[in-house]
Amino acid sequence: MKEKLQALRAQAMEELSAITSSGDQLSKNLEDFKVKYLGKKSELVSVMKGMGALSPEERPIMGQLANEVRTSIETAFNEAKENAAKVELENKLIAETIDVTLPGKQPLMGRPHPISAVQTEIENIFIGLGFEIVDGPEVEYDYYNFTALNIPPEHPARDTQDTFYINANTLLRTQTSSVQIHAMEKKKPPIRMISPGRVYRSDAIDATHSPMFHQVEGLVVDKGITMGDLKGTLELFSRNMFGEDTKIRFRPHHFPFTEPSAEVDVSCFACGGKGCRICKGEGWIEILGAGMVHPDVLRRCDIDPEEYSGFAFGMGIERIVMKKYNIDDMRLLYENDIRFLSQF
Ligand code: DAH
Repeated sequence: MKEKLQALRAQAMEELSAITSSGDQLSKNLEDFKVKYLGKKSELVSVMKGMGALSPEERPIMGQLANEVRTSIETAFNEAKENAAKVELENKLIAETIDVTLPGKQPLMGRPHPISAVQTEIENIFIGLGFEIVDGPEVEYDYYNFTALNIPPEHPARDTQDTFYINANTLLRTQTSSVQIHAMEKKKPPIRMISPGRVYRSDAIDATHSPMFHQVEGLVVDKGITMGDLKGTLELFSRNMFGEDTKIRFRPHHFPFTEPSAEVDVSCFACGGKGCRICKGEGWIEILGAGMVHPDVLRRCDIDPEEYSGFAFGMGIERIVMKKYNIDDMRLLYENDIRFLSQF
C-alpha cells in the first residue's frame, strides 16, 4: 500500500506539471485533475477504503502517509490553479492594452441653429434685466393680432402684414405684438416680459423675405415708465448683444399701437460706425421698432393709462442673425444644409 500511495503521488505530480494548456482548456484540465486525484471517486479514496484490511499497527502509519499524499497533491493543485489565474490575468492585460497614442474617434456634435443661438442670447440678456419669458399662440384671433393693437379692419397697416387666414376671424400671427395683449389681459402691472416666436406673412420668398420668420417682443408696464426707461433698456441690451461700444439711435416712426414710436438703430458692430458693406455705408443698422404703449391699447386690457404707462419693442431675429454672421440670403437659414449650418 505504501508503494501504491507513493506511486500515486508521483503520478499526480507528473500529470499536473504536464498540463500546459491555457484559457478554457486549462480550467477544464485542472478540473479533470481535481476529480481524478482529489475527488470522491479518486484512486486515493479507494486506496484509503482498503485501510480496514490492514493490521492495527500498520493502519495509523498508512493513514498518515495517505494524508500526506493527499495534502501534497492538494497543495500542488492549488499552486497550479493560482498560477494559472495569474498567467490568465497577465495575458488578458496584454491582449487588452489600449494604445493611447492612437488618434481618437471624434463624435459628431450638433449645435444650435444660428436663429436659436441668437434667440437664446437675446433671452439671456433680458433674463439678466429681470424680464420674464412668455409664450404666445401662433394661430391667433384677428383681435389680438390687429384690432386690439389699434389696427381695426380696413386699416392700411393690414395691407403690409397680409397673412394666412384659418377663417375670417383666425389667422397665423404677423407679429409677436399680439402677445402684449395676452400678457396684459392675464396679469396686472408691473409687467416686464419678452416673447420670442415665429410669425407669418404671405410674402414671396426671396433673399430678404420669408413667409415665416422670428421676432422677439418686449413689454414693460408699470407706474411711471417713460421713454427714458425704453432708451436705457435698449442701450443696455445693445451693448450686451453687439459690444460695449455700441451706440443706439432713435428715429421717429409710426406704429399704430405705440405713441410716440421710433425705429431704433445700433451703430454698426462690424465697422464701429465708419461705414462698411454690412451697414451699407451708413454706419448704423436698424434692429427694431419701439415706442410707448398707446393709451387705447392699455385701456382695452383694463389698465388705466392715467395710472400706468409702458413701453414696447419688437425685433426680427433673422435680421440680427444675418447682420451678425454677414449672411446675405435669408433662404440659407431655412434650407438645413449642414455645409452652411456647421460654419456657425
Ligand atoms: N410688430 C412690429 C412689426 O412687426 C414691430 C414693433 C414695433 C413692435 C413697435 C413693438 C413696437 O412692440 O412697439 O413690424
